[in-house]
Amino acid sequence: MNRVTQLFNIQYPIIQGGMIWNSGYKLASAVSNAGGLGLIGAGSMYPDVLREHIQKCKKATDKPFGVNVPMLYPNIEEIIAIIIEEEVKIVFTSAGNPKTWTTLLKDNGITVVHVVSSSKFALKAQEAGVDAVVAEGFEAGGHNGREETTTMTLIPMVKRNITIPLIAAGGIATGNGMLAAIVLGADGVQMGSRFAASVESSSHENFKNTIINVEEGDTQLTLKELAPVRLIKNKFYNDLQSLYANCPTKEELKDFLGRARAKKGMFEGDLVEGELEIGQIAGLIDEVKPVRQIIDDVIMEFEKAKDAVKLLHF
Ligand SMILES: Cc1cc2nc3c(=O)[nH]c(=O)nc-3n(C[C@H](O)[C@H](O)[C@H](O)COP(=O)(O)O)c2cc1C
Repeated sequence: MNRVTQLFNIQYPIIQGGMIWNSGYKLASAVSNAGGLGLIGAGSMYPDVLREHIQKCKKATDKPFGVNVPMLYPNIEEIIAIIIEEEVKIVFTSAGNPKTWTTLLKDNGITVVHVVSSSKFALKAQEAGVDAVVAEGFEAGGHNGREETTTMTLIPMVKRNITIPLIAAGGIATGNGMLAAIVLGADGVQMGSRFAASVESSSHENFKNTIINVEEGDTQLTLKELAPVRLIKNKFYNDLQSLYANCPTKEELKDFLGRARAKKGMFEGDLVEGELEIGQIAGLIDEVKPVRQIIDDVIMEFEKAKDAVKLLHF
């Protein structure tokens, strides 16, 4: 037991990060059933689709699960209302100000966690009354901070600034990585990329097969002017870099992006023109595995790594 397992009433301090086009109820319930905490990713769902996923998740697991809400979502009021109506117990907010929704969510008995990428915002989240923070390093898949602070440096710095439970994210896909994060001061870990390459992820097979072929150096953080995001260097990414050579305005970048690039890449499997979001740690992921195996392997490695560290003497 530790502060994270107690907070969520789960067996292992492993959280599956909310991920657009990857984390529907099938992934979230599989993670919760395997002893972690599964999160439905609301960021790619219309409100009625989210409601359906919450209802299906309740049927698929009797374990705790939550919903991840990126706060830049256009239908945010409706999303929050559905979460409250459906009596979701845990919400992870990201990409926005934690003050906006924390009080309302907590007044409705919901455990609130906010995702940050700096110590400054970790403190702001604590002041806003959240129950825990996820500190996400520069290595992570998906949207990210502008400062490029890595998980290795971020976790001890956030730890120094806050007293509430701390969940480390970015670059963690193994039991060794989990032990390292805990040694640095985290109470638990949030993994995204590892679960994107799972059988239960709702993303397209083409995307999953691409993840397992990603090698060190194949991803890059880009689009810092809009919302920084780590992408696989495919044709779309290379075309974007060509556009950067001409010093584009924000409007030109938005026009180039168009609509639904992430859906095209990750959900429809268009590896050429779509946006493919994944973390640096994809270079270490070489098999699409069922969720239960992922979690069992991580825990087994964690225990082994812990024993190996105990033997060290200098
Ligand atoms: C494909 C993909 C989509 C993501 N979408 C979201 C999202 O909708 N909301 C969010 O808060 N984080 C999102 N993330 C970040 C994850 O929740 C998680 O924090 C991150 O993946 C952790 O780093 P890792 O990829 O190195 O494990 C996404 C990550 C990936 C890989």
